[in-house]
Amino acid sequence: MYLDHLSLTNFRSYRRLELALSPGPTLLYGANAQGKTNLLEAIYYLATTRSHHAEQDSQLLNWDLGNEEGPLAVGRLVGHVMRDDGDRLLEMRLIQEQQGTQSSFRREALVNRRKVRLMDLLGNLRVVLFLPQDVQMVTGPPSERRRYMDITLCQTDPDYCRTLSRYNKLLEQRNTVLRRIAEEGRGHDLLPIYTEKLAETGGYLFARRASFLAALAREARNIHYEALTEGLETLRLRYLPRLENDESVNGAAGEAQDEWARWLETADPAAAASRFRESLEAARSRDIGRGRTTVGPQRDDWTFLINGRNLGSFGSRGQQRTAVLALKMAESNWMRAETGDTPVLLLDEVVAELDERRRTLILDYVRQSTQAILTSTDPGMFTDSFLQEAQTLHVTGGQIEAGVTVPD
Ligand SMILES: Nc1ncnc2c1ncn2[C@@H]1O[C@H](COP(=O)(O)OP(=O)(O)OP(=O)(O)O)[C@@H](O)[C@H]1O
Ligand SMILES: [Mg+2]
Repeated sequence: MYLDHLSLTNFRSYRRLELALSPGPTLLYGANAQGKTNLLEAIYYLATTRSHHAEQDSQLLNWDLGNEEGPLAVGRLVGHVMRDDGDRLLEMRLIQEQQGTQSSFRREALVNRRKVRLMDLLGNLRVVLFLPQDVQMVTGPPSERRRYMDITLCQTDPDYCRTLSRYNKLLEQRNTVLRRIAEEGRGHDLLPIYTEKLAETGGYLFARRASFLAALAREARNIHYEALTEGLETLRLRYLPRLENDESVNGAAGEAQDEWARWLETADPAAAASRFRESLEAARSRDIGRGRTTVGPQRDDWTFLINGRNLGSFGSRGQQRTAVLALKMAESNWMRAETGDTPVLLLDEVVAELDERRRTLILDYVRQSTQAILTSTDPGMFTDSFLQEAQTLHVTGGQIEAGVTVPD
């Protein structure tokens, strides 16, 4: 699949943009702070309904808007996607309304001009995004790794996405019941009902995550070993399902987690649910004491290991970057295998981060993809043959114009 047109209205630094895009590689280049990353963010947002870094989606609206256009501020992203099964017009609207001192924000999603639930926008356009700050996936908190897993799975699997959203609602409700029991001594009768529902949905999430990470890990290990490190380093992705409350990942507790992870890879959701139900029941009095559910996929983590050592604690920056690159290439291959369609690659400043050999490798990979959109401050980092092949666009001050032409 590929995106052949993008329109933006009041999205970040873009007041108005109409952009035709081609399949194959596209290079967006320009000085700092001109809108290159914002453009990748727009495409990512249309594909995933999530921003990679805004804390609140209202921050995505152009910030001059509020001052100029009265009580209603609207941002629009529209993308025209070409797919094997036909084309689709995707639209996301960001609407901020001011009433007196009250401000409200909402989003609307449309597919082929018909309103749909936000969740139903997912899967129409699939993307893999690489950002320089993605090394934080290796070193940052578990929430970032869970988020990565959820966004990637949601792009390919609507059942996962629906179940995740249901699980999160049930979790909140169960936590409310736990607090009520602790504080008011009421609600004992409700707890088994929520425990049961949580076990069912959570069991499914555990099993799906385990099989996803196992498949991704196989792909990433091969890319990393064969292409990126020439057989010197072995990358392992280790799933740490929070089925037990023990936080330790070393020694016996770690081995137990590895065993659960392996079991979950092929477990059917009902068996996983039944195992999770046992954990929830075992954690019952602790959960009441803390007023929250202490086991479950909301506390999952996964880590990167190189030659058996934790990459977050021991890896060099270059090793961390290489592992993330392997992960993203693996993600793209995995999505193609799952859906039959190659996702659009969005690569922010990827060449600046890599040595020459890895740069050549990633550019060869980019050439094989259906569509790849890269950014760079300096087109000089790319070979002439790449520039001849690529659509080049110059980004300046929230505008985009035709870019460099390279003589044949
Ligand atoms: N909501 C917003 N409204 C208007 N402008 C915004 C908004 N959010 C961010 N910007 C501005 O958009 C500009 C472009 O940001 P962007 O990250 O796309 O730059 P870039 O071209 O990728 O630069 P760099 O090469 O430094 O990465 C920045 O100056 C930023 O302050
Ligand atoms: Mg940038």
